[in-house]
Amino acid sequence: MDTHTDTLILAAAEARSKAYVRYSGHPVGSAILADNGKVYVGCNVENAAYPLSLCAEPAAISAMILDGGKRIKHVVVSGPGAHLCTPCGGCRQRISEFADADTRLTVVDVKNTVLLDIPFWDLLPHAFNEDNLIEAGK
Ligand code: THU
Repeated sequence: MDTHTDTLILAAAEARSKAYVRYSGHPVGSAILADNGKVYVGCNVENAAYPLSLCAEPAAISAMILDGGKRIKHVVVSGPGAHLCTPCGGCRQRISEFADADTRLTVVDVKNTVLLDIPFWDLLPHAFNEDNLIEAGK
């Protein structure tokens, strides 16, 4: 892996260690490399009202937007076990809002082993985006 990916993997693992997962016991960390060259991290934050729980990826996106980052160049998701912790459907849509044609997605396990390293758009073909709104006459 290249240097920036190693940096993202370590940042995502560190973020995972901060997750608030009182209900699922499934901590997830995410790290984004933005178009401004900066790295933004997020962890999942759960709630007693389960559907209000926040995934790791939108937390990292929020940090990016707050700091002036505009686009996601690479997103790393760090899962809590040996299993593949891919972004959920909602998170794929949230990432897509800020993804470019060459945006990359990497998923690592709890030992920082890379389980998946693919173009982001392989996860979300035929995505709904602003073009679909225009098509609908909005
Ligand atoms: N989760 C994430 O934060 N990101 C993912 O990519 C997959 C799932 C969280 C949501 C919930 O807090 C826990 O993992 C179990 O689903």
